Amino acid sequence: MSKRIGILTSGGDCPGLNAVIRGAVKSCDQLGYDCIGFLKGYEGLYDPVQYVQLTPKSTKGILNQGGTILGSTNKGRFAAVKGIDDRVEIEHSLIEGVQATVRQLGIDGLICVGGDGSLAIAQQFHENGIPVVGVPKTIDNDLQATAFTFGFDSAIECATDALDRLHTTAASHERIMVLEVMGRHAGWIALHSGIAGGGDVILIPEIPWSFEHVCHKILHRESQGKKFTLVVVAEGAELPDGGMVGQHAEGQQVKLGGIGKTVTDEIERRLHREARLCVLGHLQRGGKPTTFDRVLATQFGAHAVRLIVEERFGEMICSRPPEMVSVPILDAVHKVRTVDPQGPAVQAARALGISFGDRPADEASAGVFARNETAVDAYQPSELLDSTAAAVEVALAE
Ligand code: F6P
Repeated sequence: MSKRIGILTSGGDCPGLNAVIRGAVKSCDQLGYDCIGFLKGYEGLYDPVQYVQLTPKSTKGILNQGGTILGSTNKGRFAAVKGIDDRVEIEHSLIEGVQATVRQLGIDGLICVGGDGSLAIAQQFHENGIPVVGVPKTIDNDLQATAFTFGFDSAIECATDALDRLHTTAASHERIMVLEVMGRHAGWIALHSGIAGGGDVILIPEIPWSFEHVCHKILHRESQGKKFTLVVVAEGAELPDGGMVGQHAEGQQVKLGGIGKTVTDEIERRLHREARLCVLGHLQRGGKPTTFDRVLATQFGAHAVRLIVEERFGEMICSRPPEMVSVPILDAVHKVRTVDPQGPAVQAARALGISFGDRPADEASAGVFARNETAVDAYQPSELLDSTAAAVEVALAE
């Protein structure tokens, strides 16, 4: 009997999943492995077992297709985490069911493509002797172990395109445009698309901000003759008085979304200027993967097969340019990589005068290229808060 590899895609979808599947299938074919794909994430593994045969022919033409031909779910019976970090033991009958499927179908290795929640399931499979390897995916780019996850580049391409479009209509109508983007508790999508799309204000979870400073930036631009402003806000950015906007349900991860409306309404209320909101939502997850994501996803697919050939079960493939390495899945899950507020991208944005809503607009670049970190840390906008607030008051009185 020939050797056989199984593959599944789990959790929220993202552009590039099909490129991973194709990469794995073509590599399997070259190496003489048979390949099957389980349907609807982990659900297809048991009761009822649902799978399709994957061949180079059956995966023809999917490289540039968004979504996943195997289907996916971020709900269902196989939950290994509750809330942000709490481990939940997968029911033993389910684990036994999967063990039986793997045995009966003669699977030598199972590739699980997913984000941290899905990889936590793969980890429990590994602990129970199921031969799994992991492939990280998320548009949020927030996994510590890998420099990049596929899907991120496609998501920022979408958000950047949206900003390009908002730019022209904002300029025509002399309006403030607020764009809410995804990213969970990390500001990567907002930061990168904000820089690429010429955003004027970028609000991210990693940098506390205030409405006074956002409004000051808008007025500062007006005083320079720029009658419109583009504000990019990450869905996970905390409000100045604390808390994230979204649907909070007991024992579950918060379903983020809605902060853009709060920001837009508050700007209108404070400045009596016209502001409009655009929430990009799942457009960021749909559509074709970019070239970068196709290359990364294809490499992930091929190298995941390599991990199985090398019997490196319980490991996840990671991009550490110029290498493709692997780390234990256990070390990879729940290690969220957030934006470094002193990092090069934030530094460059500040140098350009982009506001993160944490300082007066005329202080945007203060200390940004200071040689020692203490000088940067020593920057204290709080003393300037009164004058900022006063400037906004004056503008309102005019
Ligand atoms: O993790 C990817 C992501 O798109 C986040 O940016 C977003 O918060 C979440 O998934 C949305 O999930 P759902 O598709 O369940 O609404």
